[in-house]
Amino acid sequence: MGKGALALLVHGGTENWSPQRWKARFGEVCGDRPVVLLPDPALDPAEVHYAAVWKPKPGELAAFKNLRVIFNLGAGVDALMADRSLPDVPLVRVAVDDLTDRMTEYVVLHVLMHHRQEPYLRESQRVRRWAPKYQWAASALTVGIMGLGTLGAASAHALGALGFRVVGWSRSEKQVVGIRCFHGSDGFDAFLRETNILVCLLPLTPETRHILNRGVFTKLNRTSPLGAPVVINAGRGGLQNEADILRALDDGTLGAASLDVYETEPLPGDSPFWSHPKVVLTPHNAADTDADEISKYVARQIARFEAGEALENVVDRTRGY
Ligand code: NAP
Ligand code: GLV
Repeated sequence: MGKGALALLVHGGTENWSPQRWKARFGEVCGDRPVVLLPDPALDPAEVHYAAVWKPKPGELAAFKNLRVIFNLGAGVDALMADRSLPDVPLVRVAVDDLTDRMTEYVVLHVLMHHRQEPYLRESQRVRRWAPKYQWAASALTVGIMGLGTLGAASAHALGALGFRVVGWSRSEKQVVGIRCFHGSDGFDAFLRETNILVCLLPLTPETRHILNRGVFTKLNRTSPLGAPVVINAGRGGLQNEADILRALDDGTLGAASLDVYETEPLPGDSPFWSHPKVVLTPHNAADTDADEISKYVARQIARFEAGEALENVVDRTRGY
């Protein structure tokens, strides 16, 4: 019998993220293993040993009775965690430098954008207004990172290297050189009291849903040269209470927000975020997973698994991330 097939289930995606591109890349790295793009009526589900997926519909993986590992083609597994019929096999998420570096670029770009008053400067250019405002030093601001995992820790280091004061918050206790670390619900308020720019890189779980809400915004630090604090969310849309963000921007509780993710994606055309003067909006592409890199990552993991070695970055289903 030949090698068990790798089934590919990819919903949505841009030109660079098309199911056909994923299939071509997996075909290059999987040797003689069959790579099958679903749906494929000719496929015998019993032949499938591995599944590489992005946002499969609930129940779509249940048919594969000989499945050994599920590979999520991204870092966040919230969509999979919502599938009650998900086969009980190891679920591996993406944690690779390529994705981490992209997220670090996004976070540094948006922190600098607010720190360097770019929205004000771009508006000044648009109306031909020569009205410089003092540019304060990075060390005048504290950036608070929610989530000190693969992505949060890398962003924290990059911001620290630029001179920002950095604090971080995680579920379990951590010690990270150069970063003041807080953890758990007991450490949350103290973390918020320090934070001028709040960056959210948490996974979406039952515990973190709507954690970005008015109560949290009112506890952020307002004593820096920025004045009103800023929120940057590149985790998941379900982490934010969108009505609270809009109200906080409108009444000055927040000075600005950079949002990459939304409760409903694509963001509906009538969302007030599109035209809000204090919102810097991107379409959930802070850190894309790249088919070249991730197909190699999955092939490496399958080779490890078949050699009897431990899989990396296996999701803890009880925690939900
Ligand atoms: P990760 O390595 O699993 O890190 C998650 C961090 O969140 C950990 O530090 C964890 O604490 C902390 N955390 C989880 N639940 C918490 C809670 N209830 N209270 C406090 N801290 C909590 O994940 P990652 O690779 O950094 O990715 C984070 C998220 O980024 C993903 O889940 C995904 O949603 C999002 N993402 C977005 C994009 C995009 O393009 N917008 C791209 C990639 C990823 P512990 O360290 O104590 O476990
Ligand atoms: C993207 O949103 C990811 O989770 O990798």
